[in-house]
Amino acid sequence: MTRASLLAGRAARLLARYVLLGTGHTTAESAGAPQRLILNADTPGPTIIRHIYGHFAEHLGLDIYGGFWIRGDDGGWQLNRPVIEALRRINPPNVRWPGGCFADYYHWKDGIGPREDRPTIVNNLWGGVTEDNSFGTHEFMALVEELGTEPVIVGNVGSGTVQEMSQWWEYMNHPGQSPMADLRRANGQDEPWNVKYWGVGNESWGCGGNMTPEYYADLYKRFATYLHNYGDVRPYRIAAGPPGDNLHWMEVMMRDAGQMIDGIDVHHYTLVGDWTIKGSATDFGEREWMIAMQRARRMDDIIRGHSAIMDRYDPQKRVALIIGEWGMWHDPAPGSNPGFLYQQNTLRDAIVAAVQLDIFNAHADRVRMANIAQTVNVLQAMILTEGDAMLLTPTYHVFEFYTVHHDATLLPMTMSEATYTFGDEETEAISATASQAEDGTIHLTLTNVDPNSGHTISVDIRGREVSQVTGRILTAADLNAHNTFDAPETVKPEVFSGARLAGDTLTIEMPPKSIVVLELR
Ligand code: AHR
Repeated sequence: MTRASLLAGRAARLLARYVLLGTGHTTAESAGAPQRLILNADTPGPTIIRHIYGHFAEHLGLDIYGGFWIRGDDGGWQLNRPVIEALRRINPPNVRWPGGCFADYYHWKDGIGPREDRPTIVNNLWGGVTEDNSFGTHEFMALVEELGTEPVIVGNVGSGTVQEMSQWWEYMNHPGQSPMADLRRANGQDEPWNVKYWGVGNESWGCGGNMTPEYYADLYKRFATYLHNYGDVRPYRIAAGPPGDNLHWMEVMMRDAGQMIDGIDVHHYTLVGDWTIKGSATDFGEREWMIAMQRARRMDDIIRGHSAIMDRYDPQKRVALIIGEWGMWHDPAPGSNPGFLYQQNTLRDAIVAAVQLDIFNAHADRVRMANIAQTVNVLQAMILTEGDAMLLTPTYHVFEFYTVHHDATLLPMTMSEATYTFGDEETEAISATASQAEDGTIHLTLTNVDPNSGHTISVDIRGREVSQVTGRILTAADLNAHNTFDAPETVKPEVFSGARLAGDTLTIEMPPKSIVVLELR
């Protein structure tokens, strides 16, 4: 498209539409004015289920070994307390484990019993390192308890058997006497853990077995059949969904196995380059910034495409669309093991995360779980560690801001479109979510992806009187601002003073490249 036609299209849009966040509804507006946002507190939407803010811990690089699971002063393995404490502050609703690709490679019985008796495993998928299996089922469940979160187990379909998966389910959940429950007790856990969320394979179109959807749909039903109910404990069965926008996979799964699926797990990463050269996490300019912002928006198209298929087979929306892996995937940090997927995390990653979370929230009627990849030291991490030291990434702070939306009620809004342009490229400048907590407090998160221009937003709140506004902001001077072990607080939240109330109108001065969380009472 030429620059002239782009500009014409943009002008037409500016003159002719408002964007209703979450539904795509549009109405008219004049160009040049402050952005107008109408917040409909009088017509509440669905619950933003907290599981949208889920996490993912794979046996990959320094996520488990060296991240969650470290050697103490006595040389023995232990949970990494500072990491756990930091994560507790963002209320992780769930953690997905043991993979990823590793899930279809993992044999759970190697990770139970006395640690000194466990066999080793060579992690051929990720860096070729030898693991001692010291972090297994009991250790993961101890982590889950410490975090106060829910486990999401992914069982092995690719290289495992139906019996192996069904025995793992029995080991974790059987309340009475059974071979696996007895083995669990012999290993020190009397009570069943009552694990609910259960993935039946991972990326079965790729590292999980390179299957066709037709073949996997049959296999899925076979494996899922042997996850039995034990009283009130019933499996919430998660099928491996398609990569990105592969609609054929979704169609076949919903057609052939939909009745036995509770959630279907789509994976989509945001890359600035391609799978060969993804681009640097820290060394980039505005061109790469713009590409990241444009590609982050693709998530909306992907969700809409899959939702349309799901709506045909499941108009009641019983089956959840899960985005079980998402986030920015860059080239590994220079000098790191390329198989460890260790990357830095800048303000750009934080802004992309906010845009993605807003998209999930807007589709909360169908999207009921998502897991950013991954929690510690891998891809778009919350936390980076170096020996005993740790730092919080800019993305961590976004997750902390968005805790206000966990299990809150989505409030629909319409907003005039603001555009960020760079050369011939353009994308929407503002992204937002509004929600209402049980006590009536309204929270508004707003993101300005435009790194050059501030935007004034005039909010008209319908159906509620508001007399007080407070807020915090995440921003930084540079596009690639990030936290290092020498300067761990380069990107951190500050008090936001750019919001003011006058009568029914709230005016927000959004600085360039910033994320704001507001509390309205
Ligand atoms: O998150 C890293 C890898 O990306 C996961 O193991 C796999 O499921 C995906 O391809």
